[in-house]
Amino acid sequence: MKRFLLFCCAVATLQGFSSCSSSQPNTEYGWLKNAIDTSVQQLEETVADVGDSVLLPRSIWTGYDMDFLCRQLQRDPATFKDSLRIKPVKDAIGTRRYCSSIYDWTSGFFPGNLWYAYQLTGIEGLKNGAVKFTNYLYPVKDYKGTHDIGFMMNCSYGNAYRLAPADSVRQALVQTADNLCSRFDPTIGSIRSWDFGKWNFPVIIDNMMNLDLLFYVSHLTNDSKYKEIALKHAETTLKNHFRTDHSSYHVVSYNNDGSVEMKCTHQGKNDDSSWARGQAWGVYGYTSCYRESKDTAFLQQAKDIATLIMTRVKTEDAIPLWDYDAPDSPETPRDASAASVTASALIELSTLVEDGQVYFDYAEKLLKSLSSDAYLAKVGTNQGFILMHSTGSLPNGSEIDTPINYADYYYLEALARYMQVKGLDYKSL
Ligand code: GLY
Repeated sequence: MKRFLLFCCAVATLQGFSSCSSSQPNTEYGWLKNAIDTSVQQLEETVADVGDSVLLPRSIWTGYDMDFLCRQLQRDPATFKDSLRIKPVKDAIGTRRYCSSIYDWTSGFFPGNLWYAYQLTGIEGLKNGAVKFTNYLYPVKDYKGTHDIGFMMNCSYGNAYRLAPADSVRQALVQTADNLCSRFDPTIGSIRSWDFGKWNFPVIIDNMMNLDLLFYVSHLTNDSKYKEIALKHAETTLKNHFRTDHSSYHVVSYNNDGSVEMKCTHQGKNDDSSWARGQAWGVYGYTSCYRESKDTAFLQQAKDIATLIMTRVKTEDAIPLWDYDAPDSPETPRDASAASVTASALIELSTLVEDGQVYFDYAEKLLKSLSSDAYLAKVGTNQGFILMHSTGSLPNGSEIDTPINYADYYYLEALARYMQVKGLDYKSL
């Protein structure tokens, strides 16, 4: 793979030179330029539309039909009762859904999208928007009520520090990392995910995504305690979340002595199914853990999950159904967010191993599918979101076949990683 990277850089340099010298558009990357230009316009229009209201775009409200939910879940409508099921207001359906507050788990993604769009293009207006929406989240640095503070603050303040460092930003990141560490139980060896629900100490596979904040803060502070907690969490998750085929349970709850209380799902089809985004969170999280630790057990896990994803996908364009065990029928929604998280993870994985070409090629296929008319919104549509067709929590009737801010976030991150590996910059496209 390292030779492959050098080759790509050489080709990219030549392509950049020839496109500059001839002023011809680079047709090989027309899809990429269109993807970035569309993303920028969607984000700019959304920023203008939201104005100075303290609102963070999340998705578009969708309704659902109970019989459809039961067909997807293969459950009997007479017995299907889920108290957490969302009940959207009829008039709201089709309108933009905003985060319920800055403490909504998705609050960091919209500012993060602006940061990535700024990174991709250098457009100053995007940076101004990114700063403004990031600042709304400042009080989250004092919050300890969920593991999602990793998502919320790393995607907003983490990108802010990378692209426009300031002491107050660094301090917010360190404080959030301390708060995330306060959710770590040394007997269990894990960070607690949720404070709601029926579980004693729930840990969800998604929690692997919060570890990047801890890795980042370890680098910022030169203090290994954050990284040690992250790696212990990853080890415990490796032991208990995975089945023999390397798919994962969504939720593993622990007793106080560290034994497993139960393994189940909250957002997948059923307890033993392979929820698409859960597999994506897993491959992304273990790739990060290998990057930071060089522990080959984590690398093997990332590769095994990648193989599972590539083998079990049922669609020609590789965008997965919302659960790998969902009915393979035309009405089954896909999950573009799982595809964008996977694309971003596999590009990184491809740079960490000798045999990375297969991961890079698969990520490229995902990115080209997501950048096609089937998923990439037309400018001025889709309530300003970039991608269509994600699924948030089908069993809970929430965000089914709709745009969602985190699909956009990992799509933009994947485009940025793709360009880095290829040695491309926006002006040469
Ligand atoms: N972390 C929640 C989700 O993936 O929907």
